[in-house]
Amino acid sequence: MTPSPLAIAVLISGSGSNLQALLDSRGHGIDYVISLVVSDQSDATGLERARQAGVATEVVSWSKFGSRSEFTEALCETAEASGADAIILAGFMRILSPIAMDHFPDAIINVHPALLPAFPGAHAVEAAIGHGVTLTGVTVHFVDEQVDHGPIILQEAVAVRPDDDAESLHARIQSVEHRVLPEVVSAFSRGELTVQGRYVRWNLTPREATIE
Ligand code: GAR
Repeated sequence: MTPSPLAIAVLISGSGSNLQALLDSRGHGIDYVISLVVSDQSDATGLERARQAGVATEVVSWSKFGSRSEFTEALCETAEASGADAIILAGFMRILSPIAMDHFPDAIINVHPALLPAFPGAHAVEAAIGHGVTLTGVTVHFVDEQVDHGPIILQEAVAVRPDDDAESLHARIQSVEHRVLPEVVSAFSRGELTVQGRYVRWNLTPREATIE
């Protein structure tokens, strides 16, 4: 019996180039479906990318809620109503309250443009340049109660060139993000990722193997 594909809700705030990578990877041996794209910004370019691909969209505006937990609750309920099994933070620039982990335990994945735990936060690329590091990169990790902190699924380094500015470095970081994020989401969809404390094990036990 063929298992039903994992449904993901993708949360964005801006351009949505990582969302585009997730959209473009569908149907290439990748077994997730995107049940919904949610943005906290009504003018996020990524919303148009979703519409072009025929994927449902919602806007959940931060300003409509009195607290982080109410905002997070609304986001999670919106994602659940779409049938989502997991949430992917793809350039979502708001911090979720810990209640998100009650709704989606070990099922929220974030992509961050630095090698965590270096340079957490919203300006990781500028911070890496400002610090003078010669290597930075991409981290894809499960989200936990702390910001940019949860168990690391995959990291890939990107060299900083002497003449880089934030824009040129971010462009190379993003080309890595666009390759690795669909890879991770796909592995997660197949049940290949197991969280053990701070560690994520990549086991090669496809979901099919457990289904008669
Ligand atoms: C991505 O580079 C992502 O890593 C970063 O925002 C960008 C969104 O680009 N996320 C963070 O900085 C989160 N702390 P996109 O909208 O084109 O996918």
